Order: sequence, then C-alpha cells, then structure tokens
Amino acid sequence: MHPHPVGHPGTPDHAVIPLPLRTEALPDGDAFVLDAATGLDAGPGTEDTAHWLRTTLGAATALPLPPHHDGCRGRIRLRTDPDLARRLGPEGYRLTVDGSLLAIDGGGPAGVFWGAQTLRQLLATDTADVFRRAPTTPDTRARSLPPLRIEDTPRFGWRGMMLDVARHFTPKDGVLRWIDLLAAHKLNVLHLHLTDDQGWRVPIDRHPELTRTGGWRARTKLGHRASPLWSDIPHGGHYTKDDLREIVAYAARHHITVVPEVDIPGHSQAAIAAYPELGNTDVIDTTSLSVWDTWGVNPNVLAPTDNAVRFYEEVLEEVLELFPSRYVHLGGDECPKDQWKASDTAQKRIAELGVDGEDGLQSWFLGHFARWLADRGRCLIGWDEILEGGLPEGAAVSSWRGCAGGVAAARAGHDVVMCPEQQVYLDHRQDAGANEPVPIGFVRTLEDVYRFEPVPDALTDAEAERVLGTQANVWTEVMDSQERRDYQVFPRLVALAEVAWSRLPAPPDRDYQEFTRRMTAHYPRLDALGVAYRPPGGPHPWQKRPGLLGRPIDGPPPNV
Ligand code: ACM
Repeated sequence: MHPHPVGHPGTPDHAVIPLPLRTEALPDGDAFVLDAATGLDAGPGTEDTAHWLRTTLGAATALPLPPHHDGCRGRIRLRTDPDLARRLGPEGYRLTVDGSLLAIDGGGPAGVFWGAQTLRQLLATDTADVFRRAPTTPDTRARSLPPLRIEDTPRFGWRGMMLDVARHFTPKDGVLRWIDLLAAHKLNVLHLHLTDDQGWRVPIDRHPELTRTGGWRARTKLGHRASPLWSDIPHGGHYTKDDLREIVAYAARHHITVVPEVDIPGHSQAAIAAYPELGNTDVIDTTSLSVWDTWGVNPNVLAPTDNAVRFYEEVLEEVLELFPSRYVHLGGDECPKDQWKASDTAQKRIAELGVDGEDGLQSWFLGHFARWLADRGRCLIGWDEILEGGLPEGAAVSSWRGCAGGVAAARAGHDVVMCPEQQVYLDHRQDAGANEPVPIGFVRTLEDVYRFEPVPDALTDAEAERVLGTQANVWTEVMDSQERRDYQVFPRLVALAEVAWSRLPAPPDRDYQEFTRRMTAHYPRLDALGVAYRPPGGPHPWQKRPGLLGRPIDGPPPNV
C-alpha cells in the first residue's frame, strides 16, 4: 500500500493551529510512515500522552500503537527533557520527524501532550479523518509525514475558556467534550461558572437545597430580557460530586486546569431562593424569591452577615475538596448596592467595620475570602469589580469591562487574566447581518478576535509579566443547547487559542489571511470533531433563530 502523503514534503506548509514558534523542513531527512508496524515508546511522565495517542489517534486510525519492540518499523518516542524545560518551559516541546523516528520531547508532561496535539494536526492537513472516533475506511492505511522539526512553546500560561453552566446547564458529557475541544487547541484552563441567579450547579452536602431548590427554574426567558417570549419548559440540572471529580480528572489528563467559580455577593438569587436567610431580609421578603427566570443584573444580593460568610465558607470547603486548582473564582461582578443602602443590617456592618460605604463592604466580603483562600494555599480571582473599594491582597483579576481594570491591577502588582467583553465575549454576535441567531452585543468577527492583543501597550514590560494570559467567556443566556454554544464559540475560539499560544505580531501587522489559509484545513477538523461552528458565509438555515429578540449594540466597540 502506498503511504498517503500529508502536507508537502520538504516544506513547513502544515496548517498547524495555533501557529508554532518555529517549524523547519529537514531537506536531508526522510518521511515517517505511521502504520500498523509503528510502536510507541513512552518515557517516564509521558503516560497521559501515550494513553491519549492510543485512545484518540489509535481509535481514529485503528492502529494499535503497541509498546515499541524490535519488530516495529517506526517509533513514536515520547520523552520529557530537562534541557528543553530550561529553554522552552514545561509546556514547550520539540517534535522531530525523520525516517523511522518521530520524537516528541517536552519540557514537561504537558509539553509532550501539546506536541501530540500538533502531531494529530500534522496528520490532518489533506484529510481530517484522524479527528474522528473511528476509521472511515475498513483498511488501516499508512500515512506519511514529511521530515521536519517543530519547536514550540506557549506565549501565556493561562489560555482559557469560561463556560457559563448556570444560565443554561451543560451536562457532564458536554463538559468532557469541551475538554477535548480545548485540548485540541492547546487551551489549558476551563473556568466553570457554576452559580448564578438562574441556577446553582455544584452540590454541597451541608446545604442540599442549593441544588435541590436552586438547581432548576420553572420557566425561562427566550432571547434578550426585553423579549416577550418565554419557554415554560423547566430548565435545570446539576453535577454530582463524582461528575465533578471525573471532569477534573479528565481535564488533568488533558493538562487542563478546571477553575471553579462561585459568584458572590451578587448573582446569588438561586442561593437566596434556596436559603432565604442569605438575602437582605430586612429589605425584601426573600422567602418570596425563586430561581430567576430572566436575564440582566439582579438586585437580590447576599446580606453582609456572619451567617452568610460562614455559609459560603462551608460551600467553599466542599468546592476546594473537588477542585485542586490554585485559583478559585469568586465572581464579585455586578453587585448592585441598593439593598445594602436600604438595609439597617448592612449599614451597621459598614459602621462596625469602618469601611468606606457599600463599595467598602463589597471589598470586605471579597477580602475575607481572599484571606480564607490564601490560608488554604489558594488564590482568589474575581471579575474586575473587585478593584472597587480596594483590591484584596494577593487577589487576581479577570478584566472584563475592557482592559482598564487589568491594567490597574497589574500596576498594583496583581495577576491578571485579560478577557474584555469588547473582544472575547463569545455570546456577542459575530457578524452585523440580520441572520445572526439572537444577536447581542458588539459585532466581533473571527478577524476581530484574531487581532485581540492581551497585553495593552500601556503596560511596562515588568507590569506585562502580571498578565497570566487570556480567556474567551461563553455566557449562555441565549445559548440553550450544545449546537448554539458551538455556533457562538467556533470558529472564534480557534483565533483566541492562537492569540493565547502564539507569538503573533502586534494586531495591525497580524497576518489574518495566513490564518484563514490554515483555517481552510481546520474547518474539516472541526467537522470531523462534530462541531457545529458558524460557517464563514453565515448561519445554516437551522442555525438561525428567527423571531428571537437579541440586543445588538451598534457602532464600533470602544477601543480597549
Ligand atoms: C460579567 O460579564 N458579568 C463578568
């Protein structure tokens, strides 16, 4: 059987996304043939990647990839290499294809794993069948790779996606699928937004009503909150603790960290519906509240009481057991202060603590948990509102209202994840046309995301060191299904992945055309993975949502 050629032997024209740091053809080298006689030689620390290659590449190709032995013709060799770690860091790798050896050397286990992701893409330049779960033809055909060497390492250590599982729930299988999709793009953080006004998704043994009452709502606003339409189908669901342990372990095996978010003190109506004493009972009858069924910023926030603080310590004790992540996200965004202004209890608390009004109270709330997390070896991260009233010591910031919050935090010596809504909120529409489903927010095209620069010019080099990286945020008010989420997220997440991984020129000089050339090879990979992305020409008829009201924001987005 003739080996199937992949790429153009002798040239580095390979369509790898995100773009590697360096690719060189080896003109004097020989092609590598992947076939039934290829063995896998996995050194210490590379077991995860060996497992992934056998279960993923092996499944797609029906190749056994046995442990390498003398009878093998070709060898895939996986190694960690301390010298490479010094040069390229733990996530860096070198992939060398030459003759009977295909070597993936990583700075650490993660680097080897990212090298394997590159290998799968190299095998999917002309056909993307290696991205499927089973072969499309009965014969196990051989595939050849041109001789080349790639050296690669990520620009940022935090390359993420936030998935809002509170507004619309993504069941466990769907989360595992997201982990596969993130890994395929060398993204390494899955930030799970687990609680909000519209639903509580993480089970807490000591407070079972959080999921029993707070985990579902009777009806749901269809479209933007100004829409007159409702769905009367109850919506809900929550993970079990074992689901979350499985998600965390599956992510870890893919070198992805799951960062949990429990939002305080705003975005808490589902918790208050479950435990009315958590709310501002001297201002409203919190027993009348149910899990919120529409969208927007909600006035029903936690009361600043010792009881509420202790309750959330108990919640977080269980959250920390489930999620080993160093960073724990506590929200802190969009907490209207009206109830605190009207509450005697809150006003007494402000006086007792001697803090500066309601903003000071919010800062006290977050500051308490920043210390509480630090005592347990963890680090609080919150949305940029946590700057108001004073940033808690050691806290990191997710800069979402533009980059200004991130700039201020970085200058004050805090770590920052840049995720401005004007750039990387993937709920925002991706085209100005009338056919975009439930169009909300700014027009943010694939090219716009590609031209996003996570390190603002305003930062000095030392301050820029504080930018841990970037993430796309996937808020799901108007995304009620996997298909809707796929449509909003892809292809734009692919651009975000390249922004986060690759060392691209400054935005005006970024070669978007070259990226779209590689995307022509990448769309078939997304097809093979079963991703219902937005086609470049606009939505398929079944991807449109005629009659569902959005809220487009006109005009160019403000500069960040
Ligand atoms: C946010 O979008 N409220 C963080």
